[in-house]
Amino acid sequence: MKRHIKSAYRVLLSLAYRLVYAVIVKVPVFKHYQPVFGASSTSSDVTRGCEDRWAAMEHHLEGKRGSFLDIGCNIGYFSFQASRKQGLMAWGIEADHFNITCCNAILEHSGMKNVLFVKAMMDPEFVRTMPSFEVVNNLSVFHHWVKAYGADQAQEMMRELASKSDMMFFETGQPDEKGTKWADKLSFMGEEPQSWIERFLREIGFSQVETIGTFDTGLTDIKRTLFVAKKDEHQRSRIRA
Ligand SMILES: C[S@@+](CC[C@H](N)C(=O)[O-])C[C@H]1O[C@@H](n2cnc3c(N)ncnc32)[C@H](O)[C@@H]1O
Repeated sequence: MKRHIKSAYRVLLSLAYRLVYAVIVKVPVFKHYQPVFGASSTSSDVTRGCEDRWAAMEHHLEGKRGSFLDIGCNIGYFSFQASRKQGLMAWGIEADHFNITCCNAILEHSGMKNVLFVKAMMDPEFVRTMPSFEVVNNLSVFHHWVKAYGADQAQEMMRELASKSDMMFFETGQPDEKGTKWADKLSFMGEEPQSWIERFLREIGFSQVETIGTFDTGLTDIKRTLFVAKKDEHQRSRIRA
């Protein structure tokens, strides 16, 4: 009996994921932030195309092995790319129920194995207790942390994350994105947010910090700057020791 219930559950879950996949790909009920990985989309279907950011990021991952933590992974675009194109074991963490269901529906459709999705709210405690990852993909979530936990806690979360990774892609909402809910809360970045971010990434432990592009957000006319921050071999071996 237990066996039959389990297999019925598996079939129903698979049907549910297929239905969700069909809805998100074929029914334009609402606009997604990211494109559905593996499905064709036009820029008007989504808030952010993502292909532009991925093109800037991809070559920094060449030759990398190990784990890729995708924070606030939305519907998983970067997790799937890191897993399929670079062979990394991708862990997508996302707070929103529906987004996580979409991630799993896309996963079921793709048949991919080395990508996992976890529904969780990343807060200071979560970051303190989580393990290390080779690469952390931290795109457009920091301003949500500032709004939710305050600037000091958000910066502390970044310090903790930096101590648990060799490399981080970083992008955040900026104080010059006037009219948004977060602009005023980011005033601590000053008049030149790019300089503040670069200094901050160095201060929390990354010796190499590079701007790899500025990208439209679909929200305001201001482009967000995308950074890659890395540790040198000396720093990495000190952390491993
Ligand atoms: C602006 S979107 C960015 C999505 C993706 N990182 C990107 O750049 O394409 C922010 C995403 O992070 C999620 N999010 C916000 N705060 C979060 C938190 N504390 N923990 C986990 N996910 C969070 C939101 O639900 C949303 O999907």
